[in-house]
Amino acid sequence: MIVRLQAFARETMKPWKWAALACGAVLWSAPSPQQAPEPKIMKQGFGKTPDGVPVELYTLTNRKGVRVSITNYGGIITSLLVPDRNGRSRDIVLGFDTLEGYLKGHPYFGAIIGRYGNRIGQARFTLDGVEYKLAKNDGDNHLHGGLKGFDKVVWKAREYTDGDGLHVALDYRSRDGEEGYPGNLDVNVVYTLNDNNQLRIEYTATTDKPTVVNLTNHSYFNLAGEGDILGHVLQIQADYFTPVDQGLIPTGELRPVKGTPFDFTTPTAIGARIDADDPQIRFGRGYDHNFVLRGAAGTLREAAEVYEPSSGRVLRVLTTEPGLQFYSGNFLDGTLRGKGGQVYAHRSGFCLETQHFPDSPNKPQFPSTVLRPGQTYRSTTVFEFSAR
Ligand code: GLA
Repeated sequence: MIVRLQAFARETMKPWKWAALACGAVLWSAPSPQQAPEPKIMKQGFGKTPDGVPVELYTLTNRKGVRVSITNYGGIITSLLVPDRNGRSRDIVLGFDTLEGYLKGHPYFGAIIGRYGNRIGQARFTLDGVEYKLAKNDGDNHLHGGLKGFDKVVWKAREYTDGDGLHVALDYRSRDGEEGYPGNLDVNVVYTLNDNNQLRIEYTATTDKPTVVNLTNHSYFNLAGEGDILGHVLQIQADYFTPVDQGLIPTGELRPVKGTPFDFTTPTAIGARIDADDPQIRFGRGYDHNFVLRGAAGTLREAAEVYEPSSGRVLRVLTTEPGLQFYSGNFLDGTLRGKGGQVYAHRSGFCLETQHFPDSPNKPQFPSTVLRPGQTYRSTTVFEFSAR
């Protein structure tokens, strides 16, 4: 049909008219790059650390308009563009435009946390009869791996594409004694973006001495891209949480969420009970607690879902971990200026940190975080995005 039309046009039209028509047809038939971009990975320089180590930024774009940027400094997710219900994209994570922003210090925006995500009470634990003393960086406690955790080191990075999607693989060797932990720990983290709008994070680690491991990602989400997160509607697949003392160290109890401000078994606005007169809420200055996830740890299952009514964006979190720290950005106080000069005000981002329970090395009743030579630590978390 097209061939016959072309022949007819060629015979009946002046040559310049025919050329214009043919050109128009080509333009018209070419797919618009915005409609179905080819999945791709772009690698750029992202500056240097103070000791001169070059750092890269990897930007992964899928066919559905999701775009994530990850730097090998701290394995940080620096930006994450997700379409709303009208197809309009916005960056839904907190962070900085430049490496300098991260180097100046920040509350773990987007970073990989290790060797032990969350707190270890009194910054010490005993393993096989030996006591290990860790760096104290949260009062008397140890938080998120210590003074220089995995969020502040440069990881070896490699990007590749295969049938599963776009990948950035990060490797880091944490030396025996680093921040007080025993054993050389070889850590591998693979970020994968696929065309189902899933951002998957797979962690593995091996050690040459018995040690403890608990890895997570500390992204702060704001599904509207601005404002506070109090109107976000959250559901957590947890019937119990681990109450804490004033220093946010679990007491060891598993407490039912039923009848407390911690009941997110049905979708509930984050702000609905965040200022409740409740000692646990007071200790956390809002939510900063570990939830005991339903189902079997080690199997990938739904942990949480968050819906933001104005944009329609939805974040679903799946994990193999037994726990989930829900942190409502209570320590954000408007002093940090992030991307595009945005002020990060109180509760302008929330974290859903998949994890083993805080202080597990001192709580024999909690699922174990011990890793021994010959074993492989494995953990998978999926952040899945949609809009409705
Ligand atoms: C975690 C902790 C919080 C806080 C933030 C960073 O979520 O549980 O108490 O330290 O990291 O500010």
